[in-house]
Amino acid sequence: MSKGGLILGIESSCDETAAAVVERGERTLSSVVASQISTHARYGGVVPELASREHLRAIVPVVRAALAEAGVALDDLDAIAVTAGPGLAGALLVGVSYAKALAFAAGLPLIAVNHLEGHIHAVLLQGLQNATAASGNNPQWTGRSPSDSPDAQSLALVVSGGHTHLYWAQHGEGGWRYRLVGRTVDDAAGEAYDKVAKLLGFGYPGGPWIDALARFGDPRAVPFSFSQIKHKIHLGDRPPRTKAAVSAPIADLDPHFLFSFSGIKTAVLRYVELHGLREEAQARAARLFAPGADARPPRSKEEALELCPQQVLDLVASFQHAVVGDLMKKSFAAAEALGARRILVTGGVAANRELRTRFSAEAGRHRVRVEFPTLALSTDNAAMIAAAAWPRFQAGEFASGELSGNPSLALGGS
Ligand code: KG4
Ligand code: ZN
Repeated sequence: MSKGGLILGIESSCDETAAAVVERGERTLSSVVASQISTHARYGGVVPELASREHLRAIVPVVRAALAEAGVALDDLDAIAVTAGPGLAGALLVGVSYAKALAFAAGLPLIAVNHLEGHIHAVLLQGLQNATAASGNNPQWTGRSPSDSPDAQSLALVVSGGHTHLYWAQHGEGGWRYRLVGRTVDDAAGEAYDKVAKLLGFGYPGGPWIDALARFGDPRAVPFSFSQIKHKIHLGDRPPRTKAAVSAPIADLDPHFLFSFSGIKTAVLRYVELHGLREEAQARAARLFAPGADARPPRSKEEALELCPQQVLDLVASFQHAVVGDLMKKSFAAAEALGARRILVTGGVAANRELRTRFSAEAGRHRVRVEFPTLALSTDNAAMIAAAAWPRFQAGEFASGELSGNPSLALGGS
């Protein structure tokens, strides 16, 4: 029996410890995110051991803060939802163990949520919140996509630091179901952003830096071409090489919907070597990561030019233009092939300004709608986990006390 439809979501799969309370999968009462960016920044990427330690430190205060902000006690909850994977093993372990203990102590059911499904629900949650607001906060409004509405079927692009995956998402009787239709065969798009930013001596995570710098560069200055990496697309079922490529039935997927971002990262590296930009990048990194330095992405062209020469701005703009172009081309091709009328774009890279602008413009040309989460819901958070858990709660899909984190948990039967 549902009390008020309140679910506490817990997320700890990578470098954010997050907790949120969401009502009936559509109204966020609280969403607390403790970021570990400052811990990992000096290493230019997430250090798994440090991530686990930080999660251990943060989990209790973050969950308490989420309950306090929502003004609810454990007794008011209907269930506890937790990210069960994919992600870093030690990081997942902290969230899953804590959620299990809390659920047991409070006598509440536990719901296991796939992190990627969570990202997809970040967009759906946003849509439901907008719809609820538009309906004048009518408490009778359910906002949920009925199975026969055109929105019951959507293409979802999850594009983050760990993933670049295309799913066909369908809403039916038992909730949402997913089918993998495309994915990266090597690096995730966010991973390429982070690696290129590190190579050029900018901060971590790289996405917001490149996003900010690219605005002041010429996107056509360096002609990166994805045709140079096409051969990778025919990897067949050779074992995947990076964390993004775990457990993928690549051979079963249409090669037109496969991504590869390690080639462009190497192309940027080659450009840096060829044009003697390495030393200058190293000097910048030393400056930005010096103790007490307040490194933040530039807000004006003057600030950008204080950080790096125009040539680097042009390189960054060209990199981003190529990556966004490739994400767009394949997503719209998949949408067309599947007859999708709506594309949900989500994950950390969905916060990117150029990506949002170009996807939205392209949607107009294809008679397809594109939806994004708010910026806060694009990157990792727990509201998306609590929202994704609601249909599972309704369907009575609960996890057993044996639940453990699965670093390569797949979505959609893949
Ligand atoms: O979804 P997320 O918070 O964590 C994962 O599940 O990976 O995504 C983090 C990724 C990082 O690679 C970060 O560089 C990228 O999202 N990112 C961006 C932007 N903001 C974050 N990439 C491009 N443009 C942005 N504005
Ligand atoms: Zn994520």
